[in-house]
Amino acid sequence: MQGKAARVAITNVIRHSQANRAQVRFAFRDKHTDYRRLAMLLENKVAIIYGAGGPIGGAVARAFAREGARVFLAGRTWAKLDQLADEIRSNGGAADTAVVDALEERAVDQFVDAVVEQAGQIDISFNLISYGDVQVPLTEISVEDFLQPITTAMRAHFLTTRAAVRYMLKRGSGVILAFGGDGPQTLPGLGGFKVALDAIEGLRRQWACELGPHGIRLVTLKTGGVPETIPNDYPGRAEIVASLEQAALLNRTATLADVGNVAAFVASDQARTITATEVNISCGALMD
Ligand SMILES: NC(=O)c1ccc[n+]([C@@H]2O[C@H](COP(=O)([O-])OP(=O)(O)OC[C@H]3O[C@@H](n4cnc5c(N)ncnc54)[C@H](OP(=O)(O)O)[C@@H]3O)[C@@H](O)[C@H]2O)c1
Repeated sequence: MQGKAARVAITNVIRHSQANRAQVRFAFRDKHTDYRRLAMLLENKVAIIYGAGGPIGGAVARAFAREGARVFLAGRTWAKLDQLADEIRSNGGAADTAVVDALEERAVDQFVDAVVEQAGQIDISFNLISYGDVQVPLTEISVEDFLQPITTAMRAHFLTTRAAVRYMLKRGSGVILAFGGDGPQTLPGLGGFKVALDAIEGLRRQWACELGPHGIRLVTLKTGGVPETIPNDYPGRAEIVASLEQAALLNRTATLADVGNVAAFVASDQARTITATEVNISCGALMD
């Protein structure tokens, strides 16, 4: 009897632990479901992308939307923005479009006001407009052409950041992203373009130190060039792409998908410790 009692007791224990295991498995499954839900990096986030009609802006918008963000696509040309928004919506994402000149103070402020009125918040602002740079040697460039990318970049980054920050300060959180990166590496014949990228980093540092105490992060992504952004019919394209690959330690370059993936991570709460810095996705072309 003692043995039977022991067997019953043991059976009960096993049953009990089976039940526990079931519970544990159930709990794990719940957690697993949560993990899958959390795997969307930008759920419930609202992002503005200026220059969304360009290849980099488009890649970032797709990645943000895929990760659950509601994206507001701003740029100069309706057709490009609407095409991208349609694509995002047809893949289950949430996208709105607006023609906004990122150099116009009132237009930018009003646009950001409208986004917050519609979406209730703004979590991410990424300025990816082009700067109208003229890439020729400095000895051959006019002062206007030299200054063009520098003043454009400064004006657009200052205005778009300030407009977003007005709302981010109230919530004590937010992420401002830039694209380009500074550093000693440069090439002859870039006109004012690299100087503009260096200036963006100076501005980014200034914003970062003023906004850090308010929970707002500023990060720049830098690549060694993204070949997909070079038009297929661009003269010397093959040589340019080969030289970009050769310059990289990994013998490859960042793709548009890489830019979007890293941007989504950096914009997410998973990257809450990252601010006042560059994230280098140059495959080793730009050594830090
Ligand atoms: N591609 C690269 O490898 C690389 C490397 C380093 C840095 N960058 C920089 O990253 C940025 C994005 O590159 P990208 O290749 O995607 O550029 P892109 O092809 O020139 O596209 C830029 C987009 O910005 C829009 N835009 C221009 N001025 C604007 C303004 N004032 N207000 C609102 N939108 C404006 C343009 O509108 P429209 O369509 O109407 O012209 C265009 O859709 C550029 O600043 C570029 O210099 C790129």
